[in-house]
Amino acid sequence: MFPLQTSKPETYSMRIRKAVFPVAGLGTRFLPATKAIPKEMLPVVDRPVIQHVVDEARAAGIEHFIFVTGRNKGTIEDHFDIAFELDHTLASRNRHADLALLADDLPGAGQTSFTRQQAPLGLGHAVWCARELVGDEPFAVLLPDMLHHGIEPCLKGMIEQHAKTRANSVSVYAVPMEQTPSYGIIDAVPLADGSQQIRNMVEKPAAGTAPSNLAISGRYVLSPKIFDILGRQQKGAGGEIQLTDAMLTLLETEKFLAHIFDGEVFDTGTKIGFLTANVAYALARPEFGSLARSEIEKLLARRQNT
Ligand code: G1P
Repeated sequence: MFPLQTSKPETYSMRIRKAVFPVAGLGTRFLPATKAIPKEMLPVVDRPVIQHVVDEARAAGIEHFIFVTGRNKGTIEDHFDIAFELDHTLASRNRHADLALLADDLPGAGQTSFTRQQAPLGLGHAVWCARELVGDEPFAVLLPDMLHHGIEPCLKGMIEQHAKTRANSVSVYAVPMEQTPSYGIIDAVPLADGSQQIRNMVEKPAAGTAPSNLAISGRYVLSPKIFDILGRQQKGAGGEIQLTDAMLTLLETEKFLAHIFDGEVFDTGTKIGFLTANVAYALARPEFGSLARSEIEKLLARRQNT
């Protein structure tokens, strides 16, 4: 179980304790796999995508996990709850390692909240739906499609940066220029301390117009002022209420830093990104990484010979 620590009230406005996971998307890019299963429950090796992202938040010290869900997403809620019959059966079969594995992944009582985005109005609207649960304190957002694979969890570095600077931040990674229309793209200038200050952001720029190739990789540390802005935000790219547009407004009054993640980023919202993430996470598993490597090498050798 997650440690049930709670911070003292006077530190609420300083520390990032809460994280929002927008998980209401329909997953139409993965049909038919996502007809009856939320896309966030598709496994990367043997853990659902959403579990990998919750693991990252947990490793960054997050204490409260807020899921913005939608219809047909009930299995996400079940996944982060005790499965009594399963636990009972495993215990009766002396499967103690499996029981410990399940217990380790489970948030403690009262550490999760679920609210619904009632209509698919965009990422900005999904985050706004969490306003009552977040309240008046800085918070994190983690987009479950994006997996960050490295020695240090991406969000941990961002929270450490926030502790020093109190600035908003977004994680970014370099993408090929032709992929910029699929992402939020930033323009940043280096500061004397080596950090990158954002001076512009654009959601899904038209081909050839992106200010850089640095794409927002789906991790955010935001001031609660974003909620007022989101409440007034007009529709943007794709006819949706965009978080990037609201951040651009916040940028007029508050500092935004870019966090360049030291590791690999996988966009599991694309089929190739999902497949590549599975290969990368399998290769990194101590208990069968070398076996995975030799199977992949054999597979490639057979393809080369035919
Ligand atoms: C969202 C964000 C975008 C970000 C992307 C990362 O877009 O709006 O800024 O770059 O996630 O995956 P979406 O993928 O929901 O269209």
